[in-house]
Amino acid sequence: MNAPITACYPDPGTARPLTGLYLDHALPDRGRHGPFIYANYIASLDGRISVPADTGGQGVPESIANARDWRLFQELAGQADLLLSSGRYLRDLEAGTAQDSLPIGIDDAFSDIRAWRVRHGLAPQPDVAVLSAGLDFAVPRRLLDQGRRVIVITGESVPDSRVQAHERAGTEVIVLPNVARPGGAALVTALQALAYRRIYTVAGPFVLHTLLSANLLDSLFLTTVHRLIGGQPFASLCEGDLLAETGDFQLASMHLDAHGPGGCTQTFSRYDRTPGP
Ligand SMILES: NC(=O)c1ccc[n+]([C@@H]2O[C@H](COP(=O)([O-])OP(=O)(O)OC[C@H]3O[C@@H](n4cnc5c(N)ncnc54)[C@H](OP(=O)(O)O)[C@@H]3O)[C@@H](O)[C@H]2O)c1
Repeated sequence: MNAPITACYPDPGTARPLTGLYLDHALPDRGRHGPFIYANYIASLDGRISVPADTGGQGVPESIANARDWRLFQELAGQADLLLSSGRYLRDLEAGTAQDSLPIGIDDAFSDIRAWRVRHGLAPQPDVAVLSAGLDFAVPRRLLDQGRRVIVITGESVPDSRVQAHERAGTEVIVLPNVARPGGAALVTALQALAYRRIYTVAGPFVLHTLLSANLLDSLFLTTVHRLIGGQPFASLCEGDLLAETGDFQLASMHLDAHGPGGCTQTFSRYDRTPGP
């Protein structure tokens, strides 16, 4: 963790510690549509963010996951008051195949991130919102026991019985009007009404597509590991129909890390939404 990284943009050539890259300067606490909404992915050089996992289903490729990227994931999560997840992730949690149970790092290595939250008046753990059309999962008791608000956002196609089951278990359910699946203007309005300041999406490519379609994403953080891995089915960071309006971003920063997996280099990039509507 001590090895420095090198700026490529802006100020190329400047070396700095990895630790603090995303924590030294707090993210904005307002986005273009209310909360500041940001996403983070790790991808291979051939653009894969997930591959078939030994446990079944899909997962982050083990060949690219690494501790230096995970440190930055935690620095981004540490600034959020709401994590945005998906029905798929909750099903993985239930099955025991999820990467993590949505905590801000509890290891000693992340004590500075926990202290940052205290200094900035944030709860120890962010609340959780889950986008799901079907609601066919149970929210793990341990999430609710941590005193976190858990909100499920769904559409009108969901059966009433599933809404009631979640409410009985202590989960708040928001049924968006006039949409079968969560998305569009109804999702924008719902996220504004929740009045969070920084929403960190830790979901996959379909939720990112939903956010981009609703023009909701303010910043994208991307770790690219300079390793080609192949794999089927191909999963990039945004999956779905062609976007009616492209998601346009500007490079805000890029750093080169010489200590990626297996001696590969990797880059840590931040892209901000171009100014516009
Ligand atoms: N490398 C990385 O940085 C990274 C980051 C995140 C995820 N991943 C990987 O990405 C893989 C794929 O995740 P995923 O395919 O499950 O994608 P996802 O985008 O996480 O979740 C898809 C789920 O979102 C819900 N959803 C809610 N509204 C939706 C809408 N409007 N359109 C589509 N889905 C909506 C659906 O839940 P219901 O079925 O309950 O309705 C659907 O099953 C996973 O293996 C994960 O490990 C990688």
